[in-house]
Amino acid sequence: MKKELVITIDGPSGAGKTTVSKTLAARIGYRYIDTGALYRGIALETLERGIAADDEKAMEEACRTIDLRFRIEEGELRLYSGSRDISELIRTPEISMRASAVSALAPVRAFLTVLQRRLGEERSVVFEGRDMGTVVFPKADVKFFLDADTDIRAERRYLELKARGEGLDYEEVKRDLITRDANDSSRKLAPLKPAEDAIHVDASRIGVDEVVEKMAKVVAEIRA
Ligand code: DC
Repeated sequence: MKKELVITIDGPSGAGKTTVSKTLAARIGYRYIDTGALYRGIALETLERGIAADDEKAMEEACRTIDLRFRIEEGELRLYSGSRDISELIRTPEISMRASAVSALAPVRAFLTVLQRRLGEERSVVFEGRDMGTVVFPKADVKFFLDADTDIRAERRYLELKARGEGLDYEEVKRDLITRDANDSSRKLAPLKPAEDAIHVDASRIGVDEVVEKMAKVVAEIRA
């Protein structure tokens, strides 16, 4: 019987975590969970309710009534808030920035940490995020920290947004990405940083296939 692991992949925006995490999970038959989507879900719901991104009290109350769930549809991970599919709505630049802001608040992190730990109870899962290996699953079986040069990450994010029809220019995308990473790395609670026992992977000069290959090798050794 192969061991059932909890695998975490943390890193800054645009390093390719999503594609890598999805591909790795599919390859080893694990579930994939995008924890950034949950922060984005809170950002969207509270924006629609007119709550200021720094209103901690109102955010805490809102979290009690927000019902976020993942569903797999046609092989794709979708995020629902109640019965509404919000998978596309959470992918705008505005929600990216707001997700980063609300993720600095203690009640939001506490709420989502509990939810994420629950999602990890069945194991055999690849979690993508910022603090998965440091705070949410400090005892994860395998921890990766995926990074890439800023220009490469900015270009990747720019192409993603362009493909979605967002009319932004490259410099704007790069500026947003740098601001968001600075926010995520400097916040007091669960800042973006590699776990001490994380395996660092630099995706600047290698493609997704090679990154996944490296990771799958490590995972196979631990599962054996
Ligand atoms: O991975 P992403 O770009 O979808 O994440 C959106 C924001 O959510 C990110 O800027 C910071 C926050 N986040 C977090 O604080 N902790 C996580 N585990 C995942 C995301």
